[in-house]
Amino acid sequence: MKRGELAPMRITNRWDDQAITCHWHGLGVSGDLDGGPHVTIAPGATWAPELEVDQPAATLWYHSHVHARTAEHVYAGLAGMLLVDDPSAPDPGLPRTWGVDDIPLIIQDRAFEEGGAFAYANRGPARMHGFRGDHMLVNGAIRPEVDVPMGLTRFRVLNASNARTYTLRFADGRTFHQVASDGGLLPAPVPLAQLVLAPAERVEVVVDFAQGGTATLVSEGDPNEPPGMMGPPGTRFTPPPSDAGAEGEFDIMTFRADPSRPAQVRALPARLAGAPTPPEGPPARRREFVLDVHGGGGMGAMGGGRGRGMGMMGGGMTINGVSMDMGVINERVRRGEPEVWEIVSQDMAHPFHVHGGNFRVLSNNGTPVPYETSGLKDVVLVDGRAEILVRFDHEAGPSAPYMYHCHILEHEDAGMMGQFTVAP
Ligand code: C2O
Ligand code: CU
Ligand code: CU
Repeated sequence: MKRGELAPMRITNRWDDQAITCHWHGLGVSGDLDGGPHVTIAPGATWAPELEVDQPAATLWYHSHVHARTAEHVYAGLAGMLLVDDPSAPDPGLPRTWGVDDIPLIIQDRAFEEGGAFAYANRGPARMHGFRGDHMLVNGAIRPEVDVPMGLTRFRVLNASNARTYTLRFADGRTFHQVASDGGLLPAPVPLAQLVLAPAERVEVVVDFAQGGTATLVSEGDPNEPPGMMGPPGTRFTPPPSDAGAEGEFDIMTFRADPSRPAQVRALPARLAGAPTPPEGPPARRREFVLDVHGGGGMGAMGGGRGRGMGMMGGGMTINGVSMDMGVINERVRRGEPEVWEIVSQDMAHPFHVHGGNFRVLSNNGTPVPYETSGLKDVVLVDGRAEILVRFDHEAGPSAPYMYHCHILEHEDAGMMGQFTVAP
């Protein structure tokens, strides 16, 4: 999509027995166009919204978002990457030849049945910790290899996994540069040896292949994964071991510098022209969101019969003591007013996502987070307690409100989600 255009979309549901939705994750549009759980597309039906694209260039995505079915839908394949370009912005000087030195990487973990179909079972430890597969897929291929020019290559990386958090690095330890996060460019490239990518987060990184040879992208184990987790029948839950051999580490894919492909870009700019500016200003109010996998904290336990198990209807995971209810508006927000949202993660780190607006992360686990290294975000992996400064520039009414939720899809489906309206 291009900034400034009115993008005509057509989404046809060819599934014959289930409604779907198409949520534009990260796109600033009003609630009725956002494709959240209320904007369902019946089997055989077509949804044709026109989307007004007005935001900085960014790597976004889209996916089905039917309440209590999102995990199953995304796992089955109803997800993709969505790029916004800004023809009016100055050229930041980054690699930008699509498929040559500007390459999308959609990372997902999957388990397989004997016959090769995706295996998915939301039960046992997966209900509590989210579902993880034992095979790594990038753009739908198992641990692929790709040829790249002998120079700088830009990767737009999306973690489209249901639950797995990656700690990405190269097996040879090479430094790379992060140039963008969820909402667009960072002010300047940030040199890194590794980065953590939680479900639904995006980064753009630039990697130098000038010295030739191959480089393998690897991940460390997921700190959110319980030890000794067992998968569905017929699958192993141990990720494939890496050649690098470090404990818990596994391969994701391999890049091969191709001497017949000359470098298009050889040096990174010192500053990234056109980078978005963060939301600023004194917050009009503060809100707190407490994420709980056990269901209502004390409330659930005291309510009698609503045990701490995961088995009851609605799933029983909560934010501020209540599970997602399609009929309840949990928060009401004013358009254009900055707010500080404080998110509290209990028991494990939850990737908290907000529809309808970007935010800057002020702090995480008591430590200030500089905007220069985190940029504009719509997902934050909450480590204990995080504070974000958020502002909403579009409206969402009660018939199609925005969502805030954990982006571990099994948690979202189990009720760790809430709804809010945005009005003048
Ligand atoms: Cu990526 Cu509410 O979604
Ligand atoms: Cu979203
Ligand atoms: Cu969660």
